[in-house]
Amino acid sequence: MKDYTLTDDLDLAREIAREAGLLLRDGWENADDPDIEYKGRINLVTKYDKASENIIVNHLSEKRPEDSILGEESGEHPGSSNRLWCIDPLDGTTNFAHRLPFFTVSITLMIDGEPVVGVVYNPALEMEFYAATGMGAFLNGKRLPTVKPGELDRALILYGCGYDRRENPQRYIRMMETYMVASQGIRRTGSASFDCCLVACGQADAYVEVNLYPWDIAAGSLIGMETGCIITDVNGETFDPFTGRIMIAKPVVHEQLLELSNAQELFAGEFTGEWKKK
Ligand code: IPD
Ligand code: CA
Ligand code: CA
Repeated sequence: MKDYTLTDDLDLAREIAREAGLLLRDGWENADDPDIEYKGRINLVTKYDKASENIIVNHLSEKRPEDSILGEESGEHPGSSNRLWCIDPLDGTTNFAHRLPFFTVSITLMIDGEPVVGVVYNPALEMEFYAATGMGAFLNGKRLPTVKPGELDRALILYGCGYDRRENPQRYIRMMETYMVASQGIRRTGSASFDCCLVACGQADAYVEVNLYPWDIAAGSLIGMETGCIITDVNGETFDPFTGRIMIAKPVVHEQLLELSNAQELFAGEFTGEWKKK
């Protein structure tokens, strides 16, 4: 097998994310009919999710034939190496379908299950975040500074609600209420990868969500890691993108948010990701 440097893989991921992102931007700008189909009651998919995934999978299969790929739309493509490309071809599909500019292409390379390269590209706002382990994180080519500690009382907190929100609204309402009262404000962007990056670049102070998939948070978590964010599972345990649960925040804010979440037992019970590590 060929030896690739992290820079080789990062350059490739950025190039592919850009091509897929420009396709999404074309559709978004021209208000093209996205051809909505429903995967669940409110979980939708468009022809753009599929077209973006095709671009990414085709390029990766050609350029890294020995690696495995896990794509939201096409599932698993097994390979022979210990390297896995985890991709969300359109993170924020509901926003995209409504023409709200909070959506991204998210590509992660994992080696032995650890994210080592991550790209999160928002083509509508022209924000390209990327990172590689030990090399720092970047926004539009400029290195992001280390995040500064904050205070929960003054923090802006991002959160998300899973696609089971119609069936189980209470679990999300309790979380929103608790965080709203304790912080300066709460916000919901509707794109998990973008949420992670907003914390990584200091435009928000924390982000918490459960019931996600690895492709939603793997790249964003690495970008956050590289700017000194604290990242754990929502109960404080070691973060693992395959659990689909994340609490990412500035130092001190993380500690206070975790303490509050535990005290209120926000995540007690059956908060388990749908995706399980094989
Ligand atoms: C969704 C977004 C959203 C989160 C959902 C995800 P999709 O991804 O990241 O913010 O709340 O749980 O599934 O479906 O737009 O790729
Ligand atoms: Ca997603
Ligand atoms: Ca998606």
